[in-house]
Amino acid sequence: MPLVSGKGLLQAAMQGRYALGSFNILNLEMVQGILEAAVEERSPVILAISQKAIDHAGLEQAAEMVKIAAGLTPVPVALHLDHGRDFRQAAVCLRGGFTSLMIDGSALSFDDNVAISRLVAEMAHALEVPVEGQLGRIAGKEDDIIVSEQKATMTDPQEARRFVELTGIDWLTVAVGSVHLLTSRTAQLDFDRITAIREAIGIPLVLHGGSGIPDEGVREAVARGICKINIATHLNRAFLAAISDALTANPQMVDPRVILGEGKRAITEATREKMRLFGSSGKA
Ligand code: G3H
Ligand code: ZN
Repeated sequence: MPLVSGKGLLQAAMQGRYALGSFNILNLEMVQGILEAAVEERSPVILAISQKAIDHAGLEQAAEMVKIAAGLTPVPVALHLDHGRDFRQAAVCLRGGFTSLMIDGSALSFDDNVAISRLVAEMAHALEVPVEGQLGRIAGKEDDIIVSEQKATMTDPQEARRFVELTGIDWLTVAVGSVHLLTSRTAQLDFDRITAIREAIGIPLVLHGGSGIPDEGVREAVARGICKINIATHLNRAFLAAISDALTANPQMVDPRVILGEGKRAITEATREKMRLFGSSGKA
């Protein structure tokens, strides 16, 4: 089916008390692998494109690849800009048919973050596209965004309420202890903070750095009101490990499709596991 707006997907997740996976994609095999999982699990899904993916694949090429794949898929698929940087990029993505946008002003002052987030939300809302803002700084590395542990700051619930009121954003990314680019599931979340933010604002909450959160932490976060969980590193590693294993097992292999096919299968398995954990299986 054609791409759907992320708005209804997250509204349904909030009401149904489950979370949607927002999976970062870099290439065709990842798109196909994730969508295969979505079909097998009967799960709605968000495919996210970040700045490094845009640099790698090209914004138009990546977006068209997702649109074509979504059109061939019988479950709802949304196309999301992850960690958007500025107004111009948001405008280009709207023109390119993205069905949700993130504007990440978390490195700016509160007032500057409000200003850019409100501007992007006003523009996107003219096309009925929802916008995700971020308040608080998440530790770790995502593309070129590097935040040391010392510089990381948690989201304050009352500040979050003001931020949402002033910007009109649809979803809020919260900094509650998750870390970008963790390769082990060791992040400790501040669950009471999630509850406090949930009580202070009525919009869907988003958790980044989903790869590094232990499964029981994910379940608790969803129970406390997280509606969207971003996953990149876990799929990247699954893809690379499968390719590396396949090449090691077949050092004379000359057909890349055989090797990439193993990568795609690993993506499907890793995505299915996350969809079940998030509770989105069976919701399409
Ligand atoms: O925006 C994308 C995510 O926050 C991904 O984080 O690579 O730690 O899973 P991750
Ligand atoms: Zn992120």
